[in-house]
Amino acid sequence: MYVPPNLITNHDLEKIMDTSDEWIKQRTGIEQRYWISMEGATGSSDLGLEASKMALANAGWTAEDLDFIIFATLSPDIMFPGSGCLLQAKLGLNSTPALDIRQQCSGFLYGLATADAYIKTGLAGKILLVGAEVHSSGLDKSTRGRDVTVIFGDGAAALCIEGIETDANAGVLASALHADGNYAEALMTELPASRLPIRIPPGVPIDDPRYYPVMDGPAIFKKAVRMLPQVINESLEKAQMSLDDIDLIVPHQANLRINQALGQFLKLDENKIFHNIQKYGNTTAASIPLALHEAMAQGRIGKSGDVVLFVGLGAGLTWGSVIYKFL
Ligand code: UT7
Repeated sequence: MYVPPNLITNHDLEKIMDTSDEWIKQRTGIEQRYWISMEGATGSSDLGLEASKMALANAGWTAEDLDFIIFATLSPDIMFPGSGCLLQAKLGLNSTPALDIRQQCSGFLYGLATADAYIKTGLAGKILLVGAEVHSSGLDKSTRGRDVTVIFGDGAAALCIEGIETDANAGVLASALHADGNYAEALMTELPASRLPIRIPPGVPIDDPRYYPVMDGPAIFKKAVRMLPQVINESLEKAQMSLDDIDLIVPHQANLRINQALGQFLKLDENKIFHNIQKYGNTTAASIPLALHEAMAQGRIGKSGDVVLFVGLGAGLTWGSVIYKFL
C-alpha cells in the first residue's frame, strides 16, 4: 500500500470550510486522510506505481513476469487512455495487456473476480491488481461540497495474484457482483460529459457543481446497510460456507457507521471485521486492498487456511463480495 505524504486532519478541513472535527468523527469515524500535494503532478498511476513496486518486491516478481495488469480507479490520471496503460509504461513494460476497471468502491471486487476468471481459464498466470485514487484534486473544497469532500482520501494498494495447481480448496472460493444503474446519479461527477454536444460546455464557470462529485449520502447509506448483508449471504451460499467459516471481514471503508451497522446486523464479534477508515478516509478502489494490507501486517489474517471475506458498495450503484482462502 502507498499513501501520499500530505496528512490532512479534520482540523485542517475546519480551516477551509464550515465543518468540524466532531461532525466528521461522529458521522463517519474519519480522523484524517492523505492528499497529494497541492502542486499536483501526481496521478492515480503514480500512487499505483509505488504500491505496485512494493507488491512486486514482496512477491519476488519483476514487472517482466506479469502477463496482465488490472487497474481499478474512478480517478484516472487523464480522461483516456486508462491509468493501467500509464502504469504499465511506468513499470518499464511495452506490451503487457492492461485493463482499467471503472467500478468505483467495488472496483477492487470486480478486479479480483476478473483476475480469478483470467487465472482459472488459463488466460493469465501472474496478474498485478491495483486499486488507486487521487480524489483530492477533484473535490469541491468549499462548504458547498463538505458532505463529500471530508470523506475522501488519496491512496493505492496492489496485489500480485498467481495461479497455482493444487488440490487444496484455496484462492477465490466465490464472488458475487451486482450493479444498479438506476442509482447512477446518487453519486456522480457529471462533467466533462460525452453526452453533451460539447463535453466542457462553453461559458460554464470552473466552480460549477457539475465538475465535482455530488452524492445523495443518506440514500447510499440506506442502500449499503440493506445490500451488504444480502451480498455477503449470496457469496457464502456460493462457497457453501457460513459466517463461522470466515476469519475476517474486510469491508470497503466508506463510513465507520455503515460497517458498524453491518457488524451489528450480522452479530459479528468486534474482532471479525476490520476498520481503518479513521486513518485514511474513503480511498474507493484502494480501500479494500489497503485494509487487507494492514490486516495482514497486524497478523489479523494471512495464515495458511485463513478465510477472508471482502464486501463493498458504492457509485454505480455497484456492490459485491468475494471470499478468499489463503493457501
Ligand atoms: O464509498 C462510496 C459510497 N458512499 C457512501 O457509502 C456514503 C454513504 N453516506 C454517508 O456516509 C453519510 O450520508 C454522510 C457521511 C455522507 C453524511 O452523513 P449523514 O448523517 O447522512 O448527514 P446528512 O447528509 O443527512 O446531513 C446532516 C446535516 C445537514 O445539515 P442540516 O440540513 O441537518 O442542517 C448537512 O448539511 O449535516 C450537514 N453536513 C455537515 N456538517 C458539517 C453535511 N456535511 C457536513 C460536514 N460538516 N462535512
